[in-house]
Amino acid sequence: MIAPEQRDETDEAMDFSHADFRKVLGRFASGVTVVTTCDGEQRLGITVNAFTSVSLEPPLILVCIEKKSHLHQVMLRNGYFAVNVLTEEQHALSTCFAGHSEARRNFCDAPSHTAVTGAPVLDHSLGWLDCRIENVFPGGDHSIVVGRVQALGGGENRPLLYYRGKYPKLSKPSEG
Ligand SMILES: Cc1cc2nc3c(=O)[nH]c(=O)nc-3n(C[C@H](O)[C@H](O)[C@H](O)COP(=O)(O)O)c2cc1C
Repeated sequence: MIAPEQRDETDEAMDFSHADFRKVLGRFASGVTVVTTCDGEQRLGITVNAFTSVSLEPPLILVCIEKKSHLHQVMLRNGYFAVNVLTEEQHALSTCFAGHSEARRNFCDAPSHTAVTGAPVLDHSLGWLDCRIENVFPGGDHSIVVGRVQALGGGENRPLLYYRGKYPKLSKPSEG
């Protein structure tokens, strides 16, 4: 039993399990992105749904990246990254860039090109944003990485969705 004077605000808020926390977070329906950067010639990527727009002027976005992911240090050292918004057809890339398969060592065999910064831009992605790092803020076991958009693009297709640990499909075709 911790004496009240020894508790901090974190203790007060922790009357729930890790599993409960994940369960509630999973009720937020999102799209799916792959955040990419390079380690020399090696292309690196991880699946990320903690992505949001921040500012229109200047054009800023943010992603939250787990500190122990292999991409974290490289991305911060490089000072650049790309966010690739996945289409329904790129479902397998979401799984691959979140796993530890042999294919992941080869960038999940995904074709890519570069824009301004040199970060890999996935071919056929629904949308992409090539960014230089503007700020990095602490966020527990993640870093909150704010990027200033240097170039962008995208195609017309259906988005990959993520909800309660699954990839549901849009019931009606969506427009570009
Ligand atoms: C749909 C989905 C969304 C994810 N979102 C994030 C995220 O926002 N930030 C993050 O750091 N990891 C996220 N992950 C987990 C990483 O993709 C996964 O842990 C990855 O393997 C980390 O890279 P590592 O193998 O180098 O540790 C997500 C995974 C999935 C399947």
